Amino acid sequence: MDKVPSRAEISAMRRSYGEIGLDSLPSDPLEAFGIWLNDARANPLAVEANAMVLSTVDHLGNLTSRTVLLKGITDDCFTFFTSYTSRKGLAIHSQPQVSLLFPWYPLERQVSITGIAEKISREESEEYFASRPWESQIGAWASKQSQPLGSRAELEERYNAAATKWPRGTTVPMPDYWGGYNVAPESIEFWQGRYSRLHDRLRFERTSQSDHDSGEKTEWEITRYYP
Ligand SMILES: Cc1cc2nc3c(=O)[nH]c(=O)nc-3n(C[C@H](O)[C@H](O)[C@H](O)COP(=O)(O)O)c2cc1C
Repeated sequence: MDKVPSRAEISAMRRSYGEIGLDSLPSDPLEAFGIWLNDARANPLAVEANAMVLSTVDHLGNLTSRTVLLKGITDDCFTFFTSYTSRKGLAIHSQPQVSLLFPWYPLERQVSITGIAEKISREESEEYFASRPWESQIGAWASKQSQPLGSRAELEERYNAAATKWPRGTTVPMPDYWGGYNVAPESIEFWQGRYSRLHDRLRFERTSQSDHDSGEKTEWEITRYYP
């Protein structure tokens, strides 16, 4: 096995960043995010451009992070799907404040978001679940996500049992412990690497919520921060 890189080798991992600034970002951060997500999607080096690091805090204050996939942006909220009884699901249940981080290193960009996670409706989750490949649907039944697992064989037995119950081509129901969350952003920060470590940081902080009835749009205060 390769040895772990030395301290000198790790600290020599250094590159300088480019000339593109943040001055041209739209004043609506969701629109700006859409442009950046499209840029990442178009860059073959940015694999899994819709992957984001979700951090949660549980009722004891323990912080954990993991990757989940962004599956949609609806009503200005960021949607992902998971097991509601997973470690992250239980953390969100007691503490809905979360952070989302999109690390788009090949573009010398990151977007970090803070917000409040809320379960989406069962109907919306079912709609997405029905669109997933059969293997993923069966996998959702097989996994007691975040529970200790005795052996790999046990997981495969559970998968085979679910596959026998709902053979390929039949409708697989959505487990009631599974579904989506919407994260309503309270702040969205855009980071663009620049020359001489003089990076650009622009943070949009929500000052008012959109209101369907009055037609009022969400308002954001924009602050530039030292890098
Ligand atoms: C690229 C990538 C995408 C992932 N997408 C998801 C996802 O959309 N939903 C999910 O529940 N887990 C996803 N995972 C697995 C999670 O990172 C994590 O291991 C799992 O959800 C259990 O997390 P928890 O025990 O902290 O709840 C993904 C992992 C990777 C590396």
